[in-house]
Amino acid sequence: MKNLALGDFKISVKTLQFLEPLLEKELITLGAKNIQIGKRIVHCTGDIEFLYRCNYQLRTALRVLVPIMSFNSRNSDDLYRSLKKFNWDDVLTVQSTFLIDSSVHSKEYKLPHFAALRMKDAIVDFFKDKYGNRPDIEKENPDVLFHLHIDEHKVTVSLDSSGFSLNKRGYRVLGGAAPLNEVLAAAMLQISEWNSSSNIYIPMCGGGTIAIEAAFIATNTPALFFNDSFAFKKWKGFDETVWKKVKQAALSNVVPIQSKIWAGDIDKKTLAIARQNIKNAGFQEIIELEESDFFLQTPVSNGGIVVLNPPYGERIDPEQLEFFYKRIGDTLKKNWSGFDAWMITGSPEGLKSFGLKPSRKTPLMNGSIECRFCKYTLFKGSRAEHVIEKKKGQA
Ligand SMILES: C[S@@+](CC[C@H](N)C(=O)[O-])C[C@H]1O[C@@H](n2cnc3c(N)ncnc32)[C@H](O)[C@@H]1O
Repeated sequence: MKNLALGDFKISVKTLQFLEPLLEKELITLGAKNIQIGKRIVHCTGDIEFLYRCNYQLRTALRVLVPIMSFNSRNSDDLYRSLKKFNWDDVLTVQSTFLIDSSVHSKEYKLPHFAALRMKDAIVDFFKDKYGNRPDIEKENPDVLFHLHIDEHKVTVSLDSSGFSLNKRGYRVLGGAAPLNEVLAAAMLQISEWNSSSNIYIPMCGGGTIAIEAAFIATNTPALFFNDSFAFKKWKGFDETVWKKVKQAALSNVVPIQSKIWAGDIDKKTLAIARQNIKNAGFQEIIELEESDFFLQTPVSNGGIVVLNPPYGERIDPEQLEFFYKRIGDTLKKNWSGFDAWMITGSPEGLKSFGLKPSRKTPLMNGSIECRFCKYTLFKGSRAEHVIEKKKGQA
């Protein structure tokens, strides 16, 4: 295996469906080379410093993998033989613990975990043959986490440098109603092109995920500031000096906030959860949190963006759904002119009864629910008057 401390190597970063272009942008900002976009994954090359930076700073990444071998295999015995040839001394010792996480898309393996089992056998037999002893499997917090990917006969084995899903930012203790994945919330803010100098409102904030991710972005705080127990820290050859350099560089770029972040929800219990999550993230001075009914609320400032994640699916009575979404549309028209509104929903019926025409519609996945993230430009007066005003402004 290539010595990772020397020069560039291949890195594959996993993300949610539809977020690949956003992740590509972030990777370019962090210095990625040779980028190739895949499905829910972006491949690139970079050195060990870049790898550490990816884990600490990427907002739309789920896991950062380092492929260490790939080959074709006809069946499980073939797989075992090829894996046993690898020099596992490069990444493990007899005293280490390890775990194999696998995603297998091949008719060869009826039982999805069978391939991982064969890989475990190959590693164990490699050490037993050489040292008469073997590293152990550890389900909780192993020293080395491997990712085994099989697509028909194509096998790729990677080191998982993250060790956990990077949406686990470490500030959210409780989720509240239908909490958004933190990576999805950060992606929504990137799609909205909110530049953190304008005010942002998040009514229906639930556990506060969107508001907190907005504060991370507005202050340029590294995404994993609160949870940097990455797997790469337990790797052979972990470079503490490089890690400290990456962390210091990222923290020296943290800036004070330039705008107002306002969040609210109608439900007291949910609001208490949001308050705790905001406190855990240290943003209680930055995010103004209020109990409020969106339908009775008017923004305290002129202009900015409003981001909505209203209830949908089993969280709202189908009878009520269309009336509820129509009311959101009417309220935006009445109280939020001059704002750009963004709404994510998994309810096509809700969208239909919204009564506003989106100027942008982006597909997103919220868990297994396919959603639309829509932009509505809310202007004072009629669309015709707005077009004239806009032209005057451009003139
Ligand atoms: C899908 S959840 C939002 C989840 C949130 N994005 C998160 O990540 O935790 C919808 C929220 O809308 C709130 N809600 C429903 N009707 C509301 C209203 N009229 N005004 C304000 N909040 C409302 C609910 O209490 C619920 O917390």
